[in-house]
Amino acid sequence: KPEVIDTIDELRNSLCLAKQNAAARGGDAHVVLVPTMGALHAGHRELVRRAVAVGDIVVVSVFVNPLQFGVNEDLDTYPRTLDADVAALAEEGAAFVFAPHAQEMYPDGASSTRLTAGAVGGLYEGAARPGHFDGMLTVVAKLLNIVEPDIAVFGQKDAQQVFLVERMVADLNLRVRIEVVPTVREDNGLARSSRNRNLDEPARTAARSLFVGLTAAAAAAHSGVPAAIVAAHAVIGAAPLVKLDYLVVVHPHTFLPVDDDYRGQARMLVAAVVGSTRLIDNISLDIP
Ligand code: PAJ
Repeated sequence: KPEVIDTIDELRNSLCLAKQNAAARGGDAHVVLVPTMGALHAGHRELVRRAVAVGDIVVVSVFVNPLQFGVNEDLDTYPRTLDADVAALAEEGAAFVFAPHAQEMYPDGASSTRLTAGAVGGLYEGAARPGHFDGMLTVVAKLLNIVEPDIAVFGQKDAQQVFLVERMVADLNLRVRIEVVPTVREDNGLARSSRNRNLDEPARTAARSLFVGLTAAAAAAHSGVPAAIVAAHAVIGAAPLVKLDYLVVVHPHTFLPVDDDYRGQARMLVAAVVGSTRLIDNISLDIP
């Protein structure tokens, strides 16, 4: 079973001991961090599996970060299932679960120093959720400084988050390697998300259109960017209960929208409110 720790001091001490123990046994002691907000599902578990595969001491943080939630968002109703999370992490072989209270992370209520995600932080998810990415980067930077991992693992499901974390690591010269794990999906293609549990049966069926639309776009991408967008729109626009927020094709290096005549690797991002649940997804496009 993983050791469950809720203070920064205790985590640092335990990690120090774990590294010493590994060194005494002549083994490697690469620390891997998997940041999460808990309510763990198969997507998170895949991240932990990757962490166990690439490192030696795996730390999973479970912290619903108030800083990245807007005033009208689901901070209070976000699912909290720590016992089940710890049981799942025991199966996956995590050594430590860091589950601090908000008070431990933000003793002054909200940390007064914040990172800013810059212009890309205000687009797409950032346009729908002002301040979200500033809060996300701030907590990720804190977690990286607390754990000092060699590697941190993130999911491709949150493509804009991955882009911004990788850019923060480069911009701030952080000594960590970022590993990205492909999106884990349900059998019907729906990207796994803690918020999927809010979908009733009709919404769950409708939500599938996001993946079907993205897949259609990837197939149409050989005809160019506009064709890919039309293909996705045809599927997602026809689905009941789905209110499209954005559908955009972005450049992998800038995360800005590409021109219609763009060729090369790109990523299509989609966000929609399905029933009353906001969902996001994305797919890689290869535009020849
Ligand atoms: P959370 O939504 O709990 O996600 C934790 C990690 O799991 C993220 O890296 C996310 O991309 C990944 N993940 C979620 N669903 C996935 C899926 N279906 N397939 C692959 N990976 C998936 O993202 C956050 O928490 C927070 O913003 C956090 C980074 C912890 C900072 O608070």
